Amino acid sequence: MLPQVEEPLMKGLSRRELLSGAAALAAARVLSVGRPSRAAGRPALPVPPELSADAKGVIALRAQPGEQSFLPGVKTPTYGINGPFLGPAIRVRRGDKVSIKATNEVEEDITIHWHGLKIPGDRDGSPYTVIKPGATWEPTLDIDQPAATCWFHPHFYPTTAELVIKGLAGLFLIDDEESDALGLPSRWGVDDIPLILQDRRFNADGSFFHRFNMVAVTTGYVGDTMLVNGAPYPEARTARGWLRLRLLNGSNARSYRLALSDQCSMFVVASDGGLLAEPVELKELMMHAGERYEVLVDARNGTPVDLVTRPVSQLAMNLPPFDADLGLVTLLPEGADGGGALPDALVALPQLVQNLPPPSHNLVMGMRLDDAGMGLLKSAGLMKMDMSKTTDPEVMAAVNKAIVDSPALSLEKQLSANTVNGASFKLGVAPFGTSLKTDERWIISEGSDRMLHPVHIHGCQFRILALDGKKPPAHMAGWKDIAPVEKGGNAEIQIRFDHPAAKETPFMAHCHILEHEDSGMMTNFTVS
Ligand code: C2O
Ligand code: CU
Ligand code: CU
Repeated sequence: MLPQVEEPLMKGLSRRELLSGAAALAAARVLSVGRPSRAAGRPALPVPPELSADAKGVIALRAQPGEQSFLPGVKTPTYGINGPFLGPAIRVRRGDKVSIKATNEVEEDITIHWHGLKIPGDRDGSPYTVIKPGATWEPTLDIDQPAATCWFHPHFYPTTAELVIKGLAGLFLIDDEESDALGLPSRWGVDDIPLILQDRRFNADGSFFHRFNMVAVTTGYVGDTMLVNGAPYPEARTARGWLRLRLLNGSNARSYRLALSDQCSMFVVASDGGLLAEPVELKELMMHAGERYEVLVDARNGTPVDLVTRPVSQLAMNLPPFDADLGLVTLLPEGADGGGALPDALVALPQLVQNLPPPSHNLVMGMRLDDAGMGLLKSAGLMKMDMSKTTDPEVMAAVNKAIVDSPALSLEKQLSANTVNGASFKLGVAPFGTSLKTDERWIISEGSDRMLHPVHIHGCQFRILALDGKKPPAHMAGWKDIAPVEKGGNAEIQIRFDHPAAKETPFMAHCHILEHEDSGMMTNFTVS
């Protein structure tokens, strides 16, 4: 293999052309000055509208059916919140008390879960607080946590995966004085740019593909089209200057290895639950399903640049167009300087707790059908193709056929496909409880499968103490609500719950590959 830098930067490059370093460099140059086609029909980046509480402190949300055109000339039936696809960016401040009025105007049960919020179990929007069609759910949220980019999405069991595919998801931004004082880029859509990364696949009739078959419960959703804020490969006209990208991996299963097409650095300033102690300079940023990172990018010279995703090792996620660097969005920093800057230091993160007790809980992700699912992909030739680092159209066709055409599982088989601690999720059964306001050490680990599981825990923000026994990289050492485990590894975390969750409305811990979650890789726990 050639070094990373010379990976092909455009999906039009074949592996043979990759062998010519010159071709790769030429591609890099093309991308770094923007694509020539940019005037010709590239969509503008949709920027989700900000939504703050009204004078009465109310935030009104309507989950509604809609229609949107993602592919030229094709209409796709969708769901959205206050619009046809995705939702607004809810904006609150630490100390606020906001009343949500969430109305369900779609013809199926939903919930709305506030991913990353530290709130009690009865407000959490978990599978227990169902909003029936036509009904309105009115929880009050007391916002008491640091500034962060969180998000919201349905959590109805077992249709979360499909509801998110249809378009129910949005950002939930928390501001506070500490973050205000830093001078970070903060003009919404101008130099503070939300980017919701999602992959989709379409049926022949234009509807979103989604099927719970053997492949889905194994690999999770494998899309073949990238959408950023609901648009395929959009262009963002931004300020010139420092840009803040608020990244949400809102995909059901796919991980991204993000980089800038001009090989410049990204400076990570925040992770899932808030700002880091100081910016972390990276050339590449891995993002797993459900995770958020905020990164600053230097666009002071006004040069267009692509945010790209590079091939990852996640099973079945390297099919074209993901077999080479893929442009996700083009940043065109043409406006006036936004005035934000990259600070040297960010916030004082609390010290890790010394003398934590030994691990009180070990969450072990397990898969019952992974051999069968991998068998299907193996007989289609996927593993062999991966090893050879080539893209064989025949194998691709066979793998895509396995993804699309494998028959849907019976509900019973779906719900028992995956496990946490040896048991598939069961509504109404909380296998364990933990103590309120107590610092604990938990382990998240993987059983015998080798798949990636980005594991999320409700009701808290935790700190990763170790990943596979080693100190986490700096950008993962701040507030997190998702810890990835893979290849038989584990994550050790420091965790604490400041809010209760009774057995009627327990918290969830689950893999954020939503097809794993909806097929049993989720558990309930109480906090008292
Ligand atoms: Cu983002 Cu339990 O989920
Ligand atoms: Cu959550
Ligand atoms: Cu998983």
